[in-house]
Amino acid sequence: MQQEWIEVCKAGEIDEEDVIRFDHGSQSLAIYRSETDQYFATEGFCTHEKVHLSDGLVMGSIIECPKHNGRFDYTTGIAKKTPACEALKTFPVKVENGAVFVSLG
Ligand code: FES
Repeated sequence: MQQEWIEVCKAGEIDEEDVIRFDHGSQSLAIYRSETDQYFATEGFCTHEKVHLSDGLVMGSIIECPKHNGRFDYTTGIAKKTPACEALKTFPVKVENGAVFVSLG
C-alpha cells in the first residue's frame, strides 16, 4: 500500500526548537522542528495523562510535558523522565517544496 502524506504547514511556520499542534480527523499530533532544522512528529498527547504536548517546552531533542514535567525524546518517542514512562508513538515526516508532510501510516 502506498504511504499517504498529509500536508501539515509551511516549513517556516514552525520555529526552530519549537512544536505545534496538528489535528487530523480524530487524531492529534505534535510536530517538532529541531535546532538542527529537522522535523519530527509524535502523537499529540502525553502518555501519562491526556495533555497536549504542543503546550510543552522543547529543549534540544526533548519535549517537556506542561502538566507534570515528564520528558520524552521526540526524535524516538522514548520517555526520558517520570512520571512519563510509556513511549510516544512517532510518525514519519518529510519536507518537500517548502512544506511539512506527515504520514499517519
Ligand atoms: S500529563 Fe504529562 S507528565 Fe503527567
